[in-house]
Amino acid sequence: MSGFKVKVMTMSTDKNSLQLLCRYSEDFVKLCAQEFQWKDLSKDVIMDIGCGNEFRCCKFILGEFPDVSALVAIDNVPKICLVPKPSRKIHVYQADIVKRETLEQFQGKMDKAVSANTFHLITEKKMAFENVYHLLKPAGEAAFLLYLDSELDSLKKALLEIPKFKALHKGTHDPEKYSKEHDEQYYQRMLEEIGFHNVRYKKEQAVICYPLNENCKDHLLELYLTFFKKPSENVDEIKEEVFNIYEEIVDPHEGKLCYRMMLLKLFGVKPT
Ligand SMILES: C[S@@+](CC[C@H](N)C(=O)[O-])C[C@H]1O[C@@H](n2cnc3c(N)ncnc32)[C@H](O)[C@@H]1O
Repeated sequence: MSGFKVKVMTMSTDKNSLQLLCRYSEDFVKLCAQEFQWKDLSKDVIMDIGCGNEFRCCKFILGEFPDVSALVAIDNVPKICLVPKPSRKIHVYQADIVKRETLEQFQGKMDKAVSANTFHLITEKKMAFENVYHLLKPAGEAAFLLYLDSELDSLKKALLEIPKFKALHKGTHDPEKYSKEHDEQYYQRMLEEIGFHNVRYKKEQAVICYPLNENCKDHLLELYLTFFKKPSENVDEIKEEVFNIYEEIVDPHEGKLCYRMMLLKLFGVKPT
């Protein structure tokens, strides 16, 4: 079994979980630069896949490498093209990494591709990785930050086992999302089968502590309302109920309630 680093963070009381994506993306960009020994990017076009409306990876790349030739930011939500761009070097497109027909204009044109906090959301991962391979120039580099597991997903699973909550579930649930078989070696093999060379990875467990139980309750309720309809009873009652279920399934970290996520940072190179 391969080892992993553990990074403990405390969520600030005034911020929500999305703020943490910022920390992950920043660390990820720094690691990409280190792994691939990025120095002069003045001739490089880099694609950010699943850029999100904050363009976090693009901004961090620009911060570290202001000379980068261009950034191509893609996301599959149509509104992405309406979001004001933080820099003229960022070119934004609506495209779906699973759908080759939306990516035609980029085939073989990217020097590098990065994707943070996105690939675990994609069910057809092999197709998505294959499409990244096709987007790259020969010797092009690809880096992905995805999650192998999350205790927040364990809460969702626990709620789905309770008939009252199952009836309120909205959207779909993929029970394979964090399947135990889909570990770091599984993804390494997948990239190698596609043709990537020099495939390697780093695993990191993020332990995110809540400063106060009240922050945990608020966050769990926010999460609950993302996946489940508002119940007819008082929302405060649901908040307590969800919190009690959570306390049962998650071990605190040094006495503080928290959640753990296993992050996988995966790197590969298209052969020349
Ligand atoms: C959790 S957000 C991460 C945003 C950003 N990368 C970050 O780290 O802050 C995931 C993003 O991936 C996008 N996304 C999900 N599936 C996608 C797909 N198949 N193709 C392109 N973008 C996708 C979502 O719309 C969303 O903006």
